[in-house]
Amino acid sequence: MSDTPRKILVTSALPYANGPIHLGHLLEYIQTDIWVRFQKLRGQMCTYVCADDAHGTAIMLKAEENGITPEQQIAQVKADHEKDFADFQIRFDNYYSTHSPENQALSEMVFQRNKDAGYIIEKTITQLYDPQKGMFLADRFVKGTCPKCKAEDQYGDNCEVCGATYSPAELIEPYSAVSGATPVEKDTTQLFFDLPKFEPLLREWTRSGALQEQVANKLQEWIEDLQPWDISREAPYFGFEIPGYPGKYFYVWLDAPIGYMASFKNYCDREGLSFDDYWAEGSNAELYHFIGKDIINFHGLFWPAMLDGAGLRKPTAIYSHGFVTVNGAKMSKSRGTFIKARTYLDHLSPEYLRYYFAAKLSSRVDDFDLNLEDFVQRVNSDLVGKLVNIASRTGNFVKKFGGTLSAELDNPLLVREVQEAAPRIAEFYEQREFGKAMREIMALADHTNGYIAEKAPWSLAKEEGKEQEVLAICTTAINVFRLLVLYLKPVLPALAERAEAFLQIDPLRWDDAGQLLLEHDIAKFKPLLGRVESSQIDAMLSDSKEVTAAAKASTAPAKASNKMDDTVDDTISIDDFLKVKLRVARVAKAAHVEGADKLLQLTLDVGELGERNVFAGIKAKYQPEQLEGKLVVLVANLAPRKMKFGVSEGMVLAAGPGGEDIYVLSPDNGAKPGMEVR
Ligand code: 2FM
Ligand code: ZN
Repeated sequence: MSDTPRKILVTSALPYANGPIHLGHLLEYIQTDIWVRFQKLRGQMCTYVCADDAHGTAIMLKAEENGITPEQQIAQVKADHEKDFADFQIRFDNYYSTHSPENQALSEMVFQRNKDAGYIIEKTITQLYDPQKGMFLADRFVKGTCPKCKAEDQYGDNCEVCGATYSPAELIEPYSAVSGATPVEKDTTQLFFDLPKFEPLLREWTRSGALQEQVANKLQEWIEDLQPWDISREAPYFGFEIPGYPGKYFYVWLDAPIGYMASFKNYCDREGLSFDDYWAEGSNAELYHFIGKDIINFHGLFWPAMLDGAGLRKPTAIYSHGFVTVNGAKMSKSRGTFIKARTYLDHLSPEYLRYYFAAKLSSRVDDFDLNLEDFVQRVNSDLVGKLVNIASRTGNFVKKFGGTLSAELDNPLLVREVQEAAPRIAEFYEQREFGKAMREIMALADHTNGYIAEKAPWSLAKEEGKEQEVLAICTTAINVFRLLVLYLKPVLPALAERAEAFLQIDPLRWDDAGQLLLEHDIAKFKPLLGRVESSQIDAMLSDSKEVTAAAKASTAPAKASNKMDDTVDDTISIDDFLKVKLRVARVAKAAHVEGADKLLQLTLDVGELGERNVFAGIKAKYQPEQLEGKLVVLVANLAPRKMKFGVSEGMVLAAGPGGEDIYVLSPDNGAKPGMEVR
């Protein structure tokens, strides 16, 4: 690590001020927070800012629906957001609002500079207008029947049933989602940002290494067809009025990214930092935006172009992530998997989710599946069974034999191995390969548990005169524990704090990996983390269902253009369906599983796919001999699941609620093992 700390400014996308934080949001904030905490732990000068995205029609209408002013609406939501973030241990250096004087001044500056440079043009366009409400309607606020598949109640820009995209004017029987009135066409003169002028810049910048490859490729397609970008909106609109254009407002997506700058400006003014040091052209500070893949056009095209047009620096990199699914499907209110941050916190520790996200995150843009069974299994196995276990199996013996760690390690090689992993783990964090970092850490924990089991200090402790030996073994284990806690500190800061209290040490920093803890008093061991119980998950899902049913009853028409609402649809596309690979299989062998009340173990012949071992919860209904030879349908591409009795490599389809009321689906005679099912 170099001696001069890097100056790093990091942001996460600004959540809209019209709805609660949910697990879909949290992936990004937790990912960013881990990266920022890692940088700080390494001694970098890293600043993490965010804000509520407070402007736009959706927020204006939400306030109206709630019978309050937009200012009241955004203040309430901001307080809720901040509480949720704090309780998930997401530690911003500044959390602000885009509805702020700093943002107004900066938006005007960026606009004016672009205007002076000739990048703002005026165009007259025809838009749909709600005559009853007296407002122009964005595409998302017009609904009607899909011109292609005739599905009713589709939004003005795309059909959620057949996937067609179109303009609102093409909808059959269009109506305003705000008032229900039939919209009329009306001419309006608006301001446009002349994006096509930035084509050469964008071609170069998007290939400069600032973007993940998948994202850069996607953006190339858009760069082929850059269009001027409409940056103004007519009153009524909740936002900043554009200087020199009475009645026209900056479009929310113009002042939202400038909100990153505004939050940082607010922080600089409070903390005495130089704003220009970070934002002037040629700045040597690093600037990173963590975002979801749905908003890469704003961050990868409009934003760098606007910054360039205003003579400001461009981001060092933009890191995009995929969407969160729960149990393999979109978050769904009816299934109770649309889980709000607060509902989660009512039942579970934030540390579990932070760890689970870390354990499965990579630097790629892939979607992220929160599989709740896997969540329980992994958290319990890794954090409780592997990590905490090291301290709980050895800490008490140290206390019993005087409370002081020995001067010598029983196994210095083991501790050295763990110390030597530090640069590798650091590199994984740096590259946002958190999953790889977690696997490395847990492999070291596994290894250490093996060592403890082999030495069995609990047996030695019963023998006369073995105190020093026991202490040296436990000192080895406690030293590994301290190192692993340090490596996990970006992910589990609160657990690290509890461990530091147990070890009676100052807050760990990354460089401390080079030191050992010898001849040092430690405190009495107290449990550091409890197990997750499936009943907690069930209760959380059930609460999510109740809350959302109530919310549904009060749904007003004006809920469009909110990302959250886009993620709650229960329908899936044909592409989603085709992801599930179903195959015919023949039950080659069926057997009882010792110690399992509900499971049968099936050995399946899946033709060209070979044999599969599957545990199926059908014991209450079927005897093994009833199944042998039977054709069944197998979900063949389900990720293997480690169960208490072995690994289950797929799932056999059955109908019914379970217990004795379960019916295995069986293809007609003639179907062959391995055949695809569609
Ligand atoms: O998509 C969203 O949720 C936006 N509120 C994100 C804004 S990020 C930034 F540009 F401000
Ligand atoms: Zn359609």
